[in-house]
Amino acid sequence: MNDSDKRLAALAAIAEVRAGMIVGLGTGSTAAFAIAALGEQVRAGLQIKAVATSLATEASAREAGIQLIEMPARIDLTIDGADEIDSALNAIKGAGGAMLREKVVAAASDRMLVIADGSKRVGAIGAAKIPVEVLPFAHAFVADRLAALGGAPVLRAGFTSDQGNPILDCRFPADIDHAALAAAIDAIPGALGHGLFLAEVDAAYIATDGVVTRLERGETSA
Ligand code: 5RP
Repeated sequence: MNDSDKRLAALAAIAEVRAGMIVGLGTGSTAAFAIAALGEQVRAGLQIKAVATSLATEASAREAGIQLIEMPARIDLTIDGADEIDSALNAIKGAGGAMLREKVVAAASDRMLVIADGSKRVGAIGAAKIPVEVLPFAHAFVADRLAALGGAPVLRAGFTSDQGNPILDCRFPADIDHAALAAAIDAIPGALGHGLFLAEVDAAYIATDGVVTRLERGETSA
């Protein structure tokens, strides 16, 4: 992981922010660079409203002087990190435990950008843990269903989400069909959200050794 590449990716992405936009703010160390840089632009006069995907992001955005609003029905542009992203813009998110709100914000967004340093880019997603946020009442049931899907769920120790829910970190076989897996997890009552982002990401800015590559859904090359 490389902070200077994270910052470069963040700066490239925030160039897409325009005055008057409602911006979704992601969670994590890479998103933090975007929040800080957006804060600088806000202090220089840029007018935007923002939606935070976590309590931590809310605090950072406030500190940066960015105006926050409640989750609206529609967001113009969201900028968020990822744990893995491939060339088809499939991503795994949620190492920070914010994937439920992140998924809601991504789904509401006209455009979602992932920002990452090169360590997150993979040939095909699947090595990273896939987190699943669970209704506390349904914990044992959901864990059993995830195990039956091959996920070997492990309770994230000492952690609850911003919603107060536990997270089960899963490791599925790397060659699993992720679209089918996402549908299967979505169908488990009590599984509230998971870290597979297969259709949400419109573009990614990935910085490696100081060079930013933009991947755009539907384009074969950056
Ligand atoms: C939080 C996330 C983060 O975006 C993801 O974990 C990447 O974080 P970082 O930029 O710190 O590596 O999905 O739920």
